Amino acid sequence: MNNIILIGFMGSGKTSVGRQLAKKLQYTFCDTDELIEKENKNSIRNIFAAYGEEYFRKLETAAINELYGNMTRTVLSTGGGLPITEGNDRLLRRLGHVIYLKASQETLMKRLQGDTSRPLLGGEKAEERVYNLLQQRTPIYEKTAHYSVTTDHRKFYEIIDEIIDLCNI
Ligand code: S3P
Repeated sequence: MNNIILIGFMGSGKTSVGRQLAKKLQYTFCDTDELIEKENKNSIRNIFAAYGEEYFRKLETAAINELYGNMTRTVLSTGGGLPITEGNDRLLRRLGHVIYLKASQETLMKRLQGDTSRPLLGGEKAEERVYNLLQQRTPIYEKTAHYSVTTDHRKFYEIIDEIIDLCNI
């Protein structure tokens, strides 16, 4: 159980915090979106457009299944919707310490403004969509994680130190 798994909404800082955390611990950094893009030789945006969200969710579950038993001293950053697929909570928890990076709607909207890479944020009423997704997902993030860490108005090093403390590493 020496791996650290970061979950949370788009824009919560999973990738940025994850990279720096891995560097500090001299761990490998891994990101489920990057794994999927590499294995499918296609961008998340194109996968959504060509095959739909349901197909993408299956790729996410396959990715975390494949990692089981093949991952050590790794910080794994996960796509924001990955814990929402039924059964993935259990698959994530067996990979290592699961940390939910929490951020308020206000912080998330600021960080996600002008984003064009995330298919779920495109088009009109992005703010309303973020609100609805957050309502739906927050209880699942909380239930899935071993620990929750707030990221609002905090420096990366504070967040990283808290995670290291919580995981007893
Ligand atoms: C998604 C989050 C994205 C990516 C995809 C879907 C989601 O990852 O997996 O666009 O459903 O919240 P990030 O959380 O890294 O942005």
